[in-house]
Amino acid sequence: NWSMPYYLEEEVKVLRERIGDRQVLLGLSGGVDSLVSAAILDRAIGNQLYCVFVDHGLMRANEAQQVRAYVEAHFNLNLIQVNASEQFLSALVGVEDPEAKRKIVGKLFVETFLAVAKEQIQSHHLTFLAQGTIYSDVIESAHGGKSQLIKSHHNVGGLPEELHLELVEPLRYLFKDEVRALGLAMGIDRALVMRHPFPGPGLTIRILGEVKAEYIPILQHADTIMLDELHSAGLYDAVSQAFCVFLPVKSVGVKGDNRSYDYTIGVRMIQSDDFMTGRFAQLPWSVLERIGARIVNEVAHVSRVVYDITNKPPATIEWE
Ligand code: XMP
Repeated sequence: NWSMPYYLEEEVKVLRERIGDRQVLLGLSGGVDSLVSAAILDRAIGNQLYCVFVDHGLMRANEAQQVRAYVEAHFNLNLIQVNASEQFLSALVGVEDPEAKRKIVGKLFVETFLAVAKEQIQSHHLTFLAQGTIYSDVIESAHGGKSQLIKSHHNVGGLPEELHLELVEPLRYLFKDEVRALGLAMGIDRALVMRHPFPGPGLTIRILGEVKAEYIPILQHADTIMLDELHSAGLYDAVSQAFCVFLPVKSVGVKGDNRSYDYTIGVRMIQSDDFMTGRFAQLPWSVLERIGARIVNEVAHVSRVVYDITNKPPATIEWE
């Protein structure tokens, strides 16, 4: 009887028995896995759960606020939000290399999380660390693949030891589509459960080269328009990942009666089963046209929009 309601009931029972009246820490990333983990723990133990959400300021527009609002409105757990955007931006000044940017963001993320986690552990006597590890993460690390830390810096291997906490992984035996089915079975908003994957370093790797503060709202605005048009066309679920990248390259255009000389936005849409390979999505021209027109008309400092027509391989999905 392997249905989601059954799994949910069993897992809640197991979690309650194991945790008892003790307290649990969870790092909330905004992604599906940590959200569904939080939901199931919320159901099992309610306010014995302490969720730490580190906002690095490099999420999509309003995403951090949306996650927070949802969790506050629907769950009983304790939410601790840390706004660390200033620290992340300062740490990134002058850094252009993609891997260097990833390392800086990953390291700072872990440090910030650890500092807050240690405070919470002390003041609330936390015993467990919950992680949103899913079955594919388990297989990957068993085969010596990149750990979740390197991939996303959100599920950090080694953290339980560092914090002296016991590990709880409520999604450990589930595949991604089962995690989504579980989320839906618990009544989580479809829009949150069906979200495309989003990389841990976020917009850090979607702003090519040095991340400057003034680029972030430009990229967020363009990205919002692109998603808006994709949803309106009913195509969000038909693509596996869709996002904009910011290119600090200026080109000439005409806006109104004036010559413009502004930045470039790249649009990337991918269809893929496993994100190891993928093809660029063959979106209808009319949808692409609207995306291009709206971004140039509505977003200040953008004069050109380009569509990425490379498959993976040879290109990667992200531009950095
Ligand atoms: P690439 O660009 O390697 O992307 O073809 C494959 C998938 O991995 C995601 N990705 C990342 N996810 N941290 C993450 O959490 C990263 O540093 C990172 N780099 C790429 C990418 O969004 C795609 O889903």
